[in-house]
This record gives sequence, structure tokens and C-alpha cells, in this order.
Amino acid sequence: MTRIIPYGKQSISEEDIEAVCSVLRSDWLTQGPRVREFEDALARQCGARHCIAVSNGTMALHFACLALDMAPGETGLTSPISFLASANCIAYCGGRADFADIDPKTLCLSPEKVEEYCKTQGVPRVVIPVDFAGVPADLPQFKLLSEKYGFALIEDAAHAIGSTYKHADKEYACGSCVHTDMSVLSFHPVKTITTGEGGAILTNDDNIAAKLRQLANHGIEKDPIRFVTCHVPAPRYAGSLVSRNSPPPWYYEMHSLGFNGRITDIQCALGLSQLKRLETFKAKRQEIARRYNEAFAELEREQVVILPPWPAGTDPCFHLYPIRLGPDCRISRDELFLGLREKGIYCQVHYIPIYRQPFYRQKYNYNPGRFPEAENYFNSCVSLPLFPDMDDEIFQYIIKSFYDFI
Ligand SMILES: Cc1ncc(COP(=O)(O)O)c(C=O)c1O
Repeated sequence: MTRIIPYGKQSISEEDIEAVCSVLRSDWLTQGPRVREFEDALARQCGARHCIAVSNGTMALHFACLALDMAPGETGLTSPISFLASANCIAYCGGRADFADIDPKTLCLSPEKVEEYCKTQGVPRVVIPVDFAGVPADLPQFKLLSEKYGFALIEDAAHAIGSTYKHADKEYACGSCVHTDMSVLSFHPVKTITTGEGGAILTNDDNIAAKLRQLANHGIEKDPIRFVTCHVPAPRYAGSLVSRNSPPPWYYEMHSLGFNGRITDIQCALGLSQLKRLETFKAKRQEIARRYNEAFAELEREQVVILPPWPAGTDPCFHLYPIRLGPDCRISRDELFLGLREKGIYCQVHYIPIYRQPFYRQKYNYNPGRFPEAENYFNSCVSLPLFPDMDDEIFQYIIKSFYDFI
């Protein structure tokens, strides 16, 4: 088999294509009705009150930090095992991105390590737990800590649309913001649903939602209730509808230094169509994860591999399948990685710990010794292909190739 099998990829149906084409035939390519429809559908899906869709997940994280009025010099704490954007959003605001170690049982940011950080290094302004690989971070525990220490919470749910977790016998969706101030999604093509590029911020807070809408649209406010000063000139002639108390429809104010973070109707039409298939995608992703787990069960018993976490009380919509090489494995991660690549199986390493990146290293000189679990994980992990259109032939080929090398 010479074709390339990627670690993740989109699944596009004829309905998806038709949905996009219908927007192209319509009057609105951007700022039209599909955007609000997509936002409403996402808010319903996650169970949050507000959703603001934006151009990508990175901007969504940036806006989330700005909506907290994060000031230069303030610290934000996130997981070192994440994509760069989880930390960069703090740096964009002039903040110091710092890290606490992961919990090896979930591979997500450890609440215990965050508490230890608060006690020994000071309370950060914001903590950004990441639902790594689709496994929910321990959000209820983070909420308790945020109340105890007073930091804000942004859930980076870029991997986790469709994932749920139980707490006190109730089930919550990732992105519901029941245990966080805001949650962020990404719709990059390797994610569970895609809009090409795209992202969204969810919140249950009306003021934060209004701020986010402004930030994503040049800082512009159009809601008369929120106008600060009305610079509309007095009406020149009697009978005019224009007055200082009721501004004309063309009036708007700029309240903050916002951005153009808008998403298009073309993208949102694709997102709406994809969202209808979320449950199917989730079932397929779980089925593949289950089949991998079964295929590797013996290797796990022999401590040759460590299977990805599937914590009790969680129902993850798996974005990744990050398997680890165990203590009794006789080959290195890189030998396995390169061997699989020769066979066209393009695995990936998710992720190089962010504190190891030259930008952060040069700026803050983080000591990797502070993060033993992240280091252990990083040195042994490889993400095997996981995408809904993976057929049985591809699956068997991956398993056989993996066993050949191991
Ligand atoms: C955990 C995490 N957060 C944020 C992002 C950023 O999302 P986007 O690629 O849509 O900017 C990604 C994307 O890979 C991610 O994996």
C-alpha cells in the first residue's frame, strides 16, 4: 500500500458540498444568516447561552483572553501538552504564559499541580485547561479552584466538541461553560467537525458575550442599549426620526480595539451541515478507539504500550488516539514513527511540550524538570490515525504494521 494515511482528516459529504454551493448562489457570502444559525446550533449542541463564531480557534482563544481584560504582565497557566495556541493567546495579550504539569491518568492539565502553583508561585489571572484528545479536563475541580483562588477559567475544547462528562450524577457537554467562564472550539479540518478554518467561543455570561462580539468585529457596537455617547447631530428639520435619544439605523460606535475575526457564511454552511453528523462522527471515532484498544490489549498487559486515557464518567468524542510506548517496549518512539511512515502511515506527535519551544525557552528559560509527566508522555507518545472515513482495510493495515515493528 503506497497511499498516505494521515493521522486525521475531514469527512465531506454531498450534503456538505450542496450546503456550501447554496450559499455561493445566495446574496450573502459573509455577515449573512448562516453565521447566526451556526452559532445558535453550536450553543444548543453544547448547552451554552451564547456562541460567537470566529475565523479560527486561535483567534477564539485570543478574544477569550481579551474579554477578561487580561493586562500585560499577568500570568496565564495552561497545559504544556497542547497546541501552541493554548499558550500564545496569553502572550498576545502581553501576558506571561506558564505551565503546570499534566495528570498522566487523563493527559490533561492537573488540578493538583495548578493548586500547587497557586500556593507556591502566586495566583494566575487565567487558567486554560485543554480537553486533550477529546478527553474532558477535570472542569468541576478547576471550577472549585477558581472559586477558591479567584482566577478565570477558559476551557480549550478545540479537541472536544461532542465530548461529555459526569459530575454529581449529571451529564455536561464540553463547551457548556457550566464549570468555566468561556469555552473555545476549533473547526480545522483535522477536528471532529470542520469549516475549513474556523472557531467559536461559548459563554453563559451576557457581558462577556457582548464584548466578544465587539472584539470579533473591529470593536464595533451596534446595539443602542450599549451606546456610550451618541454623536448624532440634532435633527435639522422638524419631523425627523433622528434624535439624540433614538440614533438612526446607520449609527455605530467603536468601543474597543477590535479585530476582523469574522467567519463567513460559506464556512458556517459547511459547519451547520457537519454538525448534523456530529453523533455519527462521535460513534465512529469511539468505535475506532475501541478497536485499537482491543487490538493492543495484549501489548498493554505486557507493558509494551500504554493505551490512551478513557476516564470513568467521561464519554469522549476522540479527536486523537495518542498511544504511548511502555517500559517493556524494545524500540524507541522515533524508530516506530519512522517505520510506520515508510509504510505510508503518517502518525504525529501531539505535542512537543510548549515550554520546549525556542520562543518560550528564550523568553522564560523554563526548566523541563518542572514537568516530569509531560516529559514522560512526550518521549513515548505517538498519535495513530483516527478519522471517521477510516475503513477496515486501512485499520487492519495499521495494526499489522504496528505489530511488525513492535
Ligand atoms: C488544543 C488546541 N487549541 C487551539 C487550537 C487552535 O485552533 P485553530 O487551528 O482553529 O486556530 C488547536 C488547533 O490545532 C488545538 O489543537
